[in-house]
Order: sequence, then C-alpha cells, then structure tokens
Amino acid sequence: MTSHTSLDLEARNILKQNDRGGYTIPTAGLYPYQWNWDSAFAAMGFAQFDIARAWQELETLFSGQWSDGMVPHILFHQPDPGYFPGPDVWGCEGPIPSSGISQPPVAATMARLILQKDPEAGRAAMGRLFPKMRAWHKWFMDWRLDRGAVCVTHPWESGRDNAPEWDGAMARIDPSDVGEYTRRDTSHVDGSMRPTKYDYDRYIWLVQLGRRLHWDQAAMLEENPFRVADPTMTFTLLRAHRDLMVMGELLGLDTKGMAQEIFLLEKGAQTLWNEELGSYDARDAKTGEWAGCISSASFLCWLAGLPSDRQAEHLERILDATNFGVPSHDPASDRFDPKRYWRGPTWAVVNMLIGLGLEDAGHPLGKRVRELTRELITRFGFAEYFDPMTGEAAGGKSFTWTAAVWLGWASPARGRT
Ligand code: DGY
Repeated sequence: MTSHTSLDLEARNILKQNDRGGYTIPTAGLYPYQWNWDSAFAAMGFAQFDIARAWQELETLFSGQWSDGMVPHILFHQPDPGYFPGPDVWGCEGPIPSSGISQPPVAATMARLILQKDPEAGRAAMGRLFPKMRAWHKWFMDWRLDRGAVCVTHPWESGRDNAPEWDGAMARIDPSDVGEYTRRDTSHVDGSMRPTKYDYDRYIWLVQLGRRLHWDQAAMLEENPFRVADPTMTFTLLRAHRDLMVMGELLGLDTKGMAQEIFLLEKGAQTLWNEELGSYDARDAKTGEWAGCISSASFLCWLAGLPSDRQAEHLERILDATNFGVPSHDPASDRFDPKRYWRGPTWAVVNMLIGLGLEDAGHPLGKRVRELTRELITRFGFAEYFDPMTGEAAGGKSFTWTAAVWLGWASPARGRT
C-alpha cells in the first residue's frame, strides 16, 4: 500500500498541477475554470503547505463578486473550448466572465480553518475578505430564503447537480424549446457516470431563462419554476455565517446584525425537517412538497450546529450498508445509483463537511467518517467521487478537492485520530 507520506506529496502535486496562477481548476479537461466551492476547498488544501497561496485562492474567487454581492459558481478566467456552457451561453456582466448562479457558501468555513493555522498571516487578507463574504451571505438572505431556509434556483447551484432532491421540480420544466447544443462533459468522462440528457436539457433551459431575464433576481423570483429549499445551502450558509461572525469578532470588525441572521437561518433550517421521513429533506418552495430524500446533505446538520439523534440513526444505518463513507443518496432508496454523480457516489468533500460537524459536536461517528474517507483515498486515489460499495474511482481524476480534503482532514499527518 502507498505510504501516507507519498500520498501527502501526491496531493500537494495535484494542487500544484491544477494551479493556473492565483486560482485552481478542479481537474484538467472536465472542469477547466475556477469553481466556487471547489476553490474554497483548494484554499484549505494549500494552507497545509503554502498559507499565502491559500489566501490568494480566496481573494481571486472574490474578485469575481458581482455588485449585488453574488459570487458566481464558475469564473471563466480564460477561454476554453473544451467546456460547455461557456461564458457566451451564460451572458453575464460581472467583473470577470462568469456563470449567473452561485454555489454552496463554504468559503468562510474554509477561511476560518486557514486563519486558525496562522492567525497573523491571515489577518490582512481576512480583513479584506470579511465585508465581501458578508455581502455574499446577505445576497443569499435577500434573494434565496423561503421560510428562512436557503433555496437553489438551478440544480448546479446546489453543487449536487443530479441529486434526486430535484426530480420533482425538474419534472415540471418543459425544455422542448431548448434548441441544439453539444455537451462536452461526456467527451471527458463516461456518460454513465454523468447526468442524463433529460437532466441536461433542463439545466440548459434554466440557463437560457436566466439569460433572458438578465440574471435579474426579482424577475427570476417571479418566473423561474425551479426553486427548492435545500439542506446543503441552508446548512453550509448557517455554518459559514457562524464562522464569519467568529472571525469578525477576532479581528475586531463590525458584526452587528449577524447573531440575528444566524437565528433566522436556524429557524429556517428547522423547516427542512421532514417528520414523516425522520430526516432533514429538501422542500419545493413552489409547491411545498417534500423531496422525500435522505441524502448526504441531510447529514450536514451537525456542521450547522444542529445535532439530531434521529438523523444519527440514519447515518449509522447507511454507514453499515455501504463501505466507503456517506453515499450521496440513501442506498435503501430505489433512486440510488452508485456510479451516477450525486445519486449515490461518495464524495470526499461532503464526507469532510459531515465529519467536521460530527467531530465538532463530539459525536463518535465523526471519527468513523474520517477513517472511511482515509481508507477510500488511500486505496482508490484522488478521484472526483467514488462508488460507495466498491470504492471504485469515478468521474474526473487528479481532483483538486479530493487532494485538499486529504491534506487538510483525512491524512494521518493531520493527527487528530
Ligand atoms: C458541470 O459542468 O457539470 C458542473 O457541475 C456545473 O457546474
């Protein structure tokens, strides 16, 4: 078996190879630009060996922030014909060519981990980032709340593109006028591991809608049929806002109003509790219907500081039924598909977020999730995601966020377990 030291080295090399100068791509070919939450994890990975580069990653991400506070899910720093849909399809007008939607706001949570490593080295950069992060969080609260829970307006915004949580809202979209387009993702990786054409037609249709409405949030609120209150968004924003407030207090910055915002998000998160399922679940904000899904996002409640014994029972059951960390969808469900992206595979980044939350809460399952992730990466490498039963690597290879999770959390060199 490969030694841990050589895996540490390999992980660093992946970050360096994917570094495009100030920002990191998730993986060459499939994802050739700066992705929002990937980049936050990359920064956390860099912090393990190059703290200045870590802060630079976050500052580059926020250089793409729109004037309304939104931080896009993709920044198209340089043209790349290998990716679709590119900047010409999105038609956005931010400071850097970008997509018109956001992604789970994990940047402040990663920034806090980076700041903890070396508070002095991060003081200036975090001082600059604080108001930008605050504006971004505020944007979510202004435009995305439904009863205090955070909604997604496109499956890509959730970061969990084809999760079964979106099936109901996606079925209400009629994409028959979407027109011709050529997918590029399936020329880089096996189509059986990617979203289907049914999904993709709707993804592109939603992009066309946003473009037609000039990404005007008020108009989108009226016209976009896709609006789902999402555990990933809600839990990550709640956690990120707590982390941002702690950093603000540490740096002597103005945190007025933040405690109230946290309270609002806490109440919102409770509206995602599906009593019948005994789990946190996604809720369609247009129809009020539950998705009826126990997914890896349901287990982010500890990250948000909302422990739940009933949720822990599901986690234990699911960990017993699989071999390599938390699958993206419940294996007991008939929609579970172990290789298809967010409908079953296990993702190191989500394992880390779940594990961090559990460990913070002093829950013993945190150690189990971390050890399973360690074993998974040790045996199957730095893939984008993995089959949760066999461990088989899937999607893109030499993946930035898997390498970052190894360096910052799963490697024995981190020494917590
Ligand atoms: C993709 O292109 O598949 C991405 O997930 C969209 O962000």
